[in-house]
Amino acid sequence: MDSGFRIFPERGSTNAEGVDDLYFYLLLVSFVFSALIFILVITFAVKYRRRPGRERAARVTPQPALEIAWMVLPFALCLVMFVWGARLYVRIYEAPPGAMEVYVVARQWMWKLQHPEGSSEINELHVPVHRPVRLVMTSQDVIHSFYVPAFRIKQDVLPNRYTSIWFQAIQPGEYPLLCAEYCGTKHSGMTGRIVVMTDPDYERWMSEATSQGSLAAVGLQLFRGLGCSGCHTGAADARAPRLEGLFGSRVQLEGGRSVVADEAYLRESILDPRAKIVSGFQPLMPVFRGQLNEDDLIRLVAYLKSLAVREGRPDQP
Ligand code: CUA
Repeated sequence: MDSGFRIFPERGSTNAEGVDDLYFYLLLVSFVFSALIFILVITFAVKYRRRPGRERAARVTPQPALEIAWMVLPFALCLVMFVWGARLYVRIYEAPPGAMEVYVVARQWMWKLQHPEGSSEINELHVPVHRPVRLVMTSQDVIHSFYVPAFRIKQDVLPNRYTSIWFQAIQPGEYPLLCAEYCGTKHSGMTGRIVVMTDPDYERWMSEATSQGSLAAVGLQLFRGLGCSGCHTGAADARAPRLEGLFGSRVQLEGGRSVVADEAYLRESILDPRAKIVSGFQPLMPVFRGQLNEDDLIRLVAYLKSLAVREGRPDQP
């Protein structure tokens, strides 16, 4: 990272080039058409200006070919923007399978970033180069926005909800992290940095980082401490659904609907179990809304996700 002035931030991720290409296309189209319009307005204003002997406009003969052209051409150019943008959007928001996960909790005015292995960081995120990293993010208070210009990613971070985005860094270095949503007095100070490291450096950093045990392990303690394991025993005749292999699978609900058990579903089912009742079960589970903070929720979600991995392919019943 150098601090010299530049119009465009450096390109630090695999998606940066694609985003820039689309941006340049938009710039080019806007520039060409603005220039065209200004040139024509001025040319015609001069050419057809009122002067003695030419007081009235001549009759204009319709030219269908020209009229079709100025409808079809802008339409085609806009369609290119739409298709290009939509494809890029899908690529940016769908993390590749096997991406490393990092949990982000935003609060006024700091970023807390947690690795599944247990180490957590404040306003700093260390990641290995050339590995996709998926961020699962939530806020403890107001809306923030996770913005890393060099990676061309910006995603709002909302209270009571998980949002996610991913990136893959292409070279080691330090990249600024900013908050891109006005969130109060010290919004402008809500900054940090992403430190991209080579694999050996990252391994070393990871082994030195202080850790209180993996998120899933702490989650298991919470799971027992809150009494969840009393009902979610995993037995066939248990009062509560089996949680092994749940994450990523399709869940059949009362009333015939079904949902995919993603992070948002796990979160909702912990906080407000009655929102979605699993088919064949009674609404017995206590409501945990207001009793768990975001950090604990992330630990529980990480634990539930670890159960799916142990069971192998999560989407196979
Ligand atoms: Cu957080 Cu602006």
